[in-house]
Amino acid sequence: MKRTFRIWRTDPSDPAKGALKEYEIEVQEAWTVLDALNEIKWRHDGSLAFRRSCRHGICGSCAMTIDGKNTLACELQVSACKGKVVTVEPLRSFPVLRDLVVDQTDFFARYETVKPYLICSKQAPTDKERKQSPEDRKLIDGTWECILCGACTSSCPVYWSSSQFLGPAALLKAYRYVFDTRDEGFGDRLQALDSKHGLWRCHTIFNCVEACPKALNPTEAIVKLRRKVLTERI
Ligand code: SF4
Ligand code: FES
Repeated sequence: MKRTFRIWRTDPSDPAKGALKEYEIEVQEAWTVLDALNEIKWRHDGSLAFRRSCRHGICGSCAMTIDGKNTLACELQVSACKGKVVTVEPLRSFPVLRDLVVDQTDFFARYETVKPYLICSKQAPTDKERKQSPEDRKLIDGTWECILCGACTSSCPVYWSSSQFLGPAALLKAYRYVFDTRDEGFGDRLQALDSKHGLWRCHTIFNCVEACPKALNPTEAIVKLRRKVLTERI
């Protein structure tokens, strides 16, 4: 079956500029959009640039905007794209380096400010993991699954308008560590979270929830973190 893809191509002399270019290719029934992009790159136009690695919705590399919605190209089947033409663009609000490849430097810089790692004064055992009970683990279910694809942050209007808002992905990761019963770093993260560029900047627009390809809920995490911060203040 033939399908037409309209793909964002940057101007080689200025990546801030570009245009959509059409490719009509033969696709197989079970192909994902990533398979179609590979077909275009390998057999039609080797100059097309995009990120991918795992092909299984795990690495987060292939996040892009397809038919106006942020998603993972390796998880979206071409057959699920109902329009006559499938439009593929780079994630919004991130600077474009080339074609579908965006610059994530600022995204990860803001992410780092929430100290996204376990902070624990106890020496880590050398012969086993730091274990936690199934009940404790349940407290962070729905947050540790984040693959840092950036689809949520790229869809957030507050992130678009603020050069400092931490964004939903960073705040969801903050929740993952703050509510981990082995972690002792809430105080270390408080300054970043309890600031006008942190939890309080979110306007609960829910775009992030709609955009997340792993069906996570950054808005809910932000609301629960706000409650925790308020409780600590009392
Ligand atoms: S919360 Fe979802 S959309 Fe946001 S970075 Fe994590 S996996 Fe991607
Ligand atoms: S290639 Fe890894 S998430 Fe799509």
